[in-house]
Amino acid sequence: MTQVLCVAGARPNFMKIAPVMAAFAETGIAAQLLHTGQHYDAAMSDSFFADLGIPPPDHHLEVGSGSHAVQTAEVMKRFEPVLESAQPQAVLVVGDVNSTIACALVAAKRGVRVIHVEAGLRSYDRGMPEEINRVLTDQISDLLFITEKSALANLVREGIDPARVEFVGNVMIDTLYRNLERAVPASRTLGVALPQYAVLTLHRPSNVDDRETLAALLDVVAEINRRLPVAMPLHPRTRGNIEKFGFTAKLDGLHILPPVGYLEMLGLMRDARLVLTDSGGIQEETTALGVPCLTLRENTERPITIAEGTNTLVGPDPDAIRAAFNEVIAGGGKAGRIPEFWDGRAAMRIAHTLKGWLPGHKGRRAA
Ligand code: UD1
Repeated sequence: MTQVLCVAGARPNFMKIAPVMAAFAETGIAAQLLHTGQHYDAAMSDSFFADLGIPPPDHHLEVGSGSHAVQTAEVMKRFEPVLESAQPQAVLVVGDVNSTIACALVAAKRGVRVIHVEAGLRSYDRGMPEEINRVLTDQISDLLFITEKSALANLVREGIDPARVEFVGNVMIDTLYRNLERAVPASRTLGVALPQYAVLTLHRPSNVDDRETLAALLDVVAEINRRLPVAMPLHPRTRGNIEKFGFTAKLDGLHILPPVGYLEMLGLMRDARLVLTDSGGIQEETTALGVPCLTLRENTERPITIAEGTNTLVGPDPDAIRAAFNEVIAGGGKAGRIPEFWDGRAAMRIAHTLKGWLPGHKGRRAA
């Protein structure tokens, strides 16, 4: 009997599902893993399974890329028969990608309880596809595990019963601590020992899909690179747009890398002077590592990284980026502290809660 069917689909899901699967195995919760195939390149998917020791998926939907509607619909269509045959007591989804809402929606409509890990984060920016995924997934989840306390206020504001919410900490940081000693030294990933360098990641549609915005960002990065070498692992979306817009020359002189594996990225961040990013997860990872982070977005759904961590919200404006960069170089950047419950034990807290929650609760009747 499968108690929990766990879903992962895109790169940022894999480091969250890894400790959850491990904690379920350790506590005797019968779990299966489903990969939707939203990310499918070896560098975006398989390498994470190998590096993080995630068991091979029991089910693979192989949906691939597409518009939001196509991708979400494909996951839903292909997930339903799997759910029907696996008959789990609950479906567990993580994060905020299209696979998250797609599987949550199918489960909720079939009367299978939904567990959302990393619930309640809000950027309050509905222009961000993930924000829609977050709001909708939380609305149809039965049990919501949160990484920071601000998430509870967000959920209560949306009418969610606080009794369904539990503060457990950050499973992604479980993975970080578990693998820190295995992190690949930056010199190996870069092929050169740089005494100091910055790491840059860009992939948000708001930064990389618009020609002018991307041009301005790459120009200020080129400027920064003349003062501190910049290492940039290139997300496929970003690479595609750089080629489409004819911006390849703007990358001259940067240390451009293909999408790197988890252990390579961990080493790159750990050894960096600072990180510039528009990723959600990297804001949290740099806080856990104590490395200054400049977030090239107008908002963040992870406010604790600013209030307590090493993160500064800078936005995409080149002048603001230049000023923030200068400040880190001059002053060393924010020191920060580790947020509550980012202690490597979040997944075990989830497992212990589920031990009490799963058998006692009767599932709603299947549709
Ligand atoms: C998705 C998530 C985003 C997350 C990001 C991390 C949604 C709405 N977005 O965005 O929250 O931060 O993953 O990477 O779910 N591609 C490949 N190989 C792959 C996967 C994608 O080449 O393995 C290319 C395709 O051209 C695709 C594009 O990247 O069209 C974008 O992929 P997609 O999954 O649609 O969104 P991401 O931008 O990766």
